Amino acid sequence: MAANAVIIVLFFINYPNCAGKITNLFLKMTIFAVAFNMFCEMTLEEAIEARHSVRAYKDQPLAADVVKVLEEKIAVLNCEGKLHMQLILNEPKAFQGTMAKYGKFRNVGNYIVMAGQKADDLDERVGYYGEQLVLLAQTLGLNTCWVGLSYSKVPGTYVLDEGEKIACYIAIGYGETQGVGHKIKTINQVSNTSDVTPTWFRKGVEAALLAPTAVNQQKFSFEYVGMKDGHHQVHAKKGFSIIGYTQMDLGIAKYHFEIGAGKEDGGEHQPSFDWV
Ligand SMILES: Cc1cc2nc3c(=O)[nH]c(=O)nc-3n(C[C@H](O)[C@H](O)[C@H](O)COP(=O)(O)O)c2cc1C
Repeated sequence: MAANAVIIVLFFINYPNCAGKITNLFLKMTIFAVAFNMFCEMTLEEAIEARHSVRAYKDQPLAADVVKVLEEKIAVLNCEGKLHMQLILNEPKAFQGTMAKYGKFRNVGNYIVMAGQKADDLDERVGYYGEQLVLLAQTLGLNTCWVGLSYSKVPGTYVLDEGEKIACYIAIGYGETQGVGHKIKTINQVSNTSDVTPTWFRKGVEAALLAPTAVNQQKFSFEYVGMKDGHHQVHAKKGFSIIGYTQMDLGIAKYHFEIGAGKEDGGEHQPSFDWV
C-alpha cells in the first residue's frame, strides 16, 4: 500500500528531462494500472459472494507474488490454528486418480494439504483456518475447491509429523470458469433470526449460507443467545449427517459468519460477539 502511494505521488512530479514521450506514457499507464488495482482490491465480503467451487483449472502456474502471499498467510495461520497446512505446487498426480476424474477434477496442479495433530477439534480448526486461505485466494484472483474424498495422497509431496493426520485437501489455481452458485437454505432454516435479533446476526447467517459445505449439506445452525456481561452471545451448532464433514463445515461457516457479522469491526452497528 505504501509503495502504491509513493508511485502515485511520483505521478504528479513533472519530469522535464524525461527520456522521451513513450517512456513517460508507459510510466503513466503503469501508475494508472497500480492505482486501479489499489482501489479495486476485492474485500472478504466480496470474496464470499464471488467464491464457488471450481474443479477444472487452466494449465498456468501460480504467480510468484501470489505464492509468496499464500505461503506467508499459511505460516501465520499454522501458528494461530496449531495446524500443518502445506501448499504443494506443480504436482498433478494427487488429482489424477479415478475418484478425481469421477469428481470432474481437471488439471489440478496445486493444492493445500490440510493437516494437523489428531484432536477432537481438528476438523473445525481445519475448516475455520482453511476457509481463510480460500477467501484470500479468491481476493488474489484464484479459485479453489475443498476436497474431502476425491484426491490421492502422493508420498513425498507432504510432511506429516508424529501424531499428525491429513483432514482433507484444497485444490487451488486459475479456474477455467468462476464456478456457479449453490442452492442455499433459508435464513430461518438455519437460525433463530427474527425482528428482535440484531441486524449483524442476520448478516452473519447470510454469509454462512454462502459457505462451501461437503455435498452442499449445510448442516449447521446459528442461535442468537442474548447478552451476557455486556457481550452478545452466539451459539453455532453442527447437525447430523451420514456423509460426515459437519465439524469441518461448521468451522468454515463460522468464519463466514464472522466476516458477515463484522466480528472484528466493533462499530455501533456491528458489535463484537462471543461464541458460546
Ligand atoms: C469439507 C468439504 C469437503 C468437500 N469435498 C468435496 C469432494 O470430495 N469432491 C468435490 O467435488 N467437492 C467437494 N466439496 C465441495 C462441495 O461439493 C461444495 O462446496 C458444495 O457443493 C457447495 O458448492 P460451492 O462451494 O460452489 O458453493 C467439499 C466441500 C467441503 C466444505
